[in-house]
Amino acid sequence: MSAPTVLPLLAQVASAVADAIVRARPDMAGADPVVRRSDRADFQSNAALPLAKRAGEPPARLAADLLDGLSGDEVIAEALAAGPGFVNITIADAALWAQVAARAADARLGVGEPATGSRIVIDYSAPNVAKEMHVGHLRTTIIGDALARVFGFLGGEVVRANHLGDWGTQFGMLIQYIDEHPEQPWHTAAVGADATVSTLDGLYRAARAEFDADPDFADRARTRVVALQGGDASTVARWREIVAESERAFGAIYDRLGVLLTPDDYAPESFYNPMLADTVTELLDKGVATHSDGAIVVKSERVNGPDGTPAVLMVRKGDGGYGYDTTDLATIRYRISTLAADRLLYVTDSRQALHFQLIFEAARRAGWLTGAVTVDHVAYGTILGPDGRPFKTRAGGTVRLTDLLDAAVAAARSVVAEKNPGLPAAELDAIAEQAGIGAVKYADLSTGRVKDYTFDPARMTAFNGNTGVYLQYAHARIRSILRRAGDPGPVPVDVTVPLDPAERALILTLDDYATVLDEVARTLEPHRLATHLYELATVFTEFYATCPVLTAPEPLRDNRIAVCQLAARTLAHGLGLLGIAAPARL
Ligand code: ARG
Repeated sequence: MSAPTVLPLLAQVASAVADAIVRARPDMAGADPVVRRSDRADFQSNAALPLAKRAGEPPARLAADLLDGLSGDEVIAEALAAGPGFVNITIADAALWAQVAARAADARLGVGEPATGSRIVIDYSAPNVAKEMHVGHLRTTIIGDALARVFGFLGGEVVRANHLGDWGTQFGMLIQYIDEHPEQPWHTAAVGADATVSTLDGLYRAARAEFDADPDFADRARTRVVALQGGDASTVARWREIVAESERAFGAIYDRLGVLLTPDDYAPESFYNPMLADTVTELLDKGVATHSDGAIVVKSERVNGPDGTPAVLMVRKGDGGYGYDTTDLATIRYRISTLAADRLLYVTDSRQALHFQLIFEAARRAGWLTGAVTVDHVAYGTILGPDGRPFKTRAGGTVRLTDLLDAAVAAARSVVAEKNPGLPAAELDAIAEQAGIGAVKYADLSTGRVKDYTFDPARMTAFNGNTGVYLQYAHARIRSILRRAGDPGPVPVDVTVPLDPAERALILTLDDYATVLDEVARTLEPHRLATHLYELATVFTEFYATCPVLTAPEPLRDNRIAVCQLAARTLAHGLGLLGIAAPARL
């Protein structure tokens, strides 16, 4: 763990209180200083109450002794007893200005790299080959990407694992159908890049129908499955073609969404094929898996299924085939043993909670997953339609991801056009795309992860309220203030200037950035960052309403410009970690 470049005031106060505890009651060294932000002062410590209880003395006396221990600290201007056993702490103006200067001077805004030395595998997005990305892939893609960015910024070595669904019996059926219907074009060259996967999706459905209706076709399709699994050259070549065309289409959506995933991150199901047999053997040898009615299963020792018997992972089917459970077992084994990951995150919807609970349990029993490795199912809730039910098309079908994005960009376009009459169409399109995509991502990431939310383009792109557009606009507004100041480079900060209350609130919020990022990494909840940025935009608005910047006398003007610069950079950076663009104008 490397130390943060600029220690947040919260941590400075906590260490001052910890020192005061040692001075007041040496036997209580190491006790939690219980420091947090306060609405009565800048910070408060609630340590005196539990310590007094422990020592069996009146809280007021302990608090008074803590106050003694805090006097003389140069960061703390004032420490006052409040209520029975609370201490309210006000930071010295000079210390607040010093934080601004130190963060402004650092390319990383003074944020350290506490995740240095850890390797984190994040399983996210994972669409299925020959199927279009749909509403169900939105949350995994953007939550996973935000976590990848946060851990990466905090110094972690992030392995982005896009576990594409590219294997299974359905491909035998699809390949057989395609070969029997050469008159039906599907390649990008014939149907266009936008239509390849939707065409494949349609062909797959046609294949499925024929499979159900025509026993002869069903037989030929089954033979094709065997050919694919057996590595038959022409069948494998066709499969590769289908995979490549699908990957191209996913790549186009990733570009549009502005997520980090590239072909280097593809770790598809087929990648684990050669490891499946070994995985099963190892599970059997270790007594984790057992034979059951011709199949091989792992029976849970902890969880029962709906029928009251132990929940089961299907490790090998009766016909010798492998499925989703086996792949995930081989995957967790590989990520721990071969990739040497310290931390594994699986970003999939909450309905897969039991599946991953069983995978983690099996991996523990097999001895792969030890105390040295942390695993988390990063579960999330459902995207709902206007009717409050899981989002479907009017016809009851699956909503394509592209259509969702188009709807949000269209909504953003009208909002931006209204705000900027006369904006040239090309510029309007570019801004609408950034605002619309940003709005979708922000609406998702600002919602508590496990909650459901409604996909509502008009609400998501509103200029007012807790929206991506509001935050992009807040950032653009600060940039416009700075433009009017002549876009100065680094300005000197005079720490002897007295602070205005709105300025104080803004600086305290700016100083929280590193603490919030640590919380996101700890809780795997990007909405904490979203909420923080919204608060930052709100306190900036209050600051700007009461503290003139451009017309202030020096040295106050420079100080305030430094605060504006830091606010703009922090907002842009935080939006960047959420994967959201921060255009200079909106
Ligand atoms: N391909 C699956 C789907 O689209 C998601 C895979 C999630 N990741 C995993 N390791 N099981 O539903």
